[in-house]
Amino acid sequence: MAPSGDGRRRVRVGVLGCGNVGGALVELVDAEADAIAEATGVHLEVTRVAVRNLAKQRTSPVGPDRLTHDAHAVATDPDVDVVVELIGGIEPARSLVADALKAGKAVVSANKELLANVGAELSAVAEAAGRPLRFEAAVAGAIPLVRALQVSLAGERVRRVVGIVNGTTNYVLTRMSDERIPYAEALAEAQRLGYAERDPAADVEGFDASAKAAILATLAFHVEVVAGDVYREGIEAIEVDDIDFAHRLGYEVKLLAIAERVEGGRGAGQVAVRVHPAMVPADHPLAGVRGPFNAVFVEGEAAGELMLYGRGAGGRPTASAVLGDLVEVARSLGTAPAPTLRRRPAVLSPIDELRTQYYLTVDVVDRPGVLAQVAAAFGAHGVSIRSMEQVGLGDEARLVFITHTAREADVQATLAELGALAAVERVGGMLRVVGPERDGPGRHRAREHGHHRES
Ligand SMILES: NC(=O)c1ccc[n+]([C@@H]2O[C@H](COP(=O)([O-])OP(=O)(O)OC[C@H]3O[C@@H](n4cnc5c(N)ncnc54)[C@H](OP(=O)(O)O)[C@@H]3O)[C@@H](O)[C@H]2O)c1
Repeated sequence: MAPSGDGRRRVRVGVLGCGNVGGALVELVDAEADAIAEATGVHLEVTRVAVRNLAKQRTSPVGPDRLTHDAHAVATDPDVDVVVELIGGIEPARSLVADALKAGKAVVSANKELLANVGAELSAVAEAAGRPLRFEAAVAGAIPLVRALQVSLAGERVRRVVGIVNGTTNYVLTRMSDERIPYAEALAEAQRLGYAERDPAADVEGFDASAKAAILATLAFHVEVVAGDVYREGIEAIEVDDIDFAHRLGYEVKLLAIAERVEGGRGAGQVAVRVHPAMVPADHPLAGVRGPFNAVFVEGEAAGELMLYGRGAGGRPTASAVLGDLVEVARSLGTAPAPTLRRRPAVLSPIDELRTQYYLTVDVVDRPGVLAQVAAAFGAHGVSIRSMEQVGLGDEARLVFITHTAREADVQATLAELGALAAVERVGGMLRVVGPERDGPGRHRAREHGHHRES
């Protein structure tokens, strides 16, 4: 930090990584520095940028004078006040962030993997160094969600956070829902349009959403949750038929990241954190979140329900969130950061204990007595059927069930038993159903709240 001639404070920024987000950030800072200085009295200047490959052609206006391949030298440079980590992954990002904090820098990162796996360790380093570590862009890109949970809702007793936090999968599901195109085709389209990576596993298998769910749970409940703690299912098994059936019943299919407080669970302060596709009532605000957009729905004891919506990815939207953090830490340089919120170890509620409604499909040989066998399997595990529909004629039929609220372990046991029946050709789709039980499409029926249920 150095005074400049016009009385504004000059804050020197070192950026680690100049890809989608880093390149957009440097452009934004270069373009907006005067306006930011006018508004805040802080003049940001990106003085050094570290990349892996100096020979790479870059579209962003970062000339050779600012570029280096030595990220560590930038992270610890005495002439840098704030370090922005936009490399991604755990190493070397973890060491670079820790060393920057220890060298007295304020640090901003957009790295969900880093925060979801070693966030506690790095928060401890930041606290010991008395320097801030901000990561607004690590969850839901441009949406100011981390600040909302950390600051605005700091005193709120949050009951549940439910989010659409992965734009790739939401784009694919939206296309399947609107155009009835199969999963593989919708994914190929997302890849052509740049909404999906060439290797889409991290998105479609739910890994990206799990990292974000872990960060959301940590922020919402002040407990320590890491990505590996999150129960995870992706969207690869969703069929257009499942979405059609959801529509007929008044639902949309969405990949949700859910973190909720489990009241009355075994340990005090139990939380359940999971990522899976789910049937969301068509009139729920999350059902209307389309294409690559993200949204996070928060339910608090005092605040009630609120939803934040916006662009969850993309270079410029993500860089916007990074810039917000950058301005905040630049303005408060030289003052002690607020102590980090205390985190307790998390007591995680296993998925087996989940209580919700379920959508299930079973393909059977169409002959007398089969339905009774199938119904007996449900009955044996205490899973009660709310509605059943038979689709298809001839030798095979698909039975489509919606259950009453049931326990996950009992539903899984039912599915296993059904799979072993000679008359069952295939146990197909299984989706958890969000919201109150309904008598029919669009009509709600009040039910007693289970100790751990979707809503
Ligand atoms: N893209 C998004 O929409 C988005 C949204 C939210 C959060 N994020 C997060 O933002 C971060 C950056 O994402 P991105 O999409 O910008 O990634 P990216 O396009 O792959 O860029 C990564 C950058 O890091 C540089 N790099 C890699 N290893 C390095 C090393 N050892 N030393 C110095 N530089 C190194 C690369 O250098 P070269 O250019 O020389 O290869 C590249 O410039 C990630 O944590 C990501 O999860 C991204």
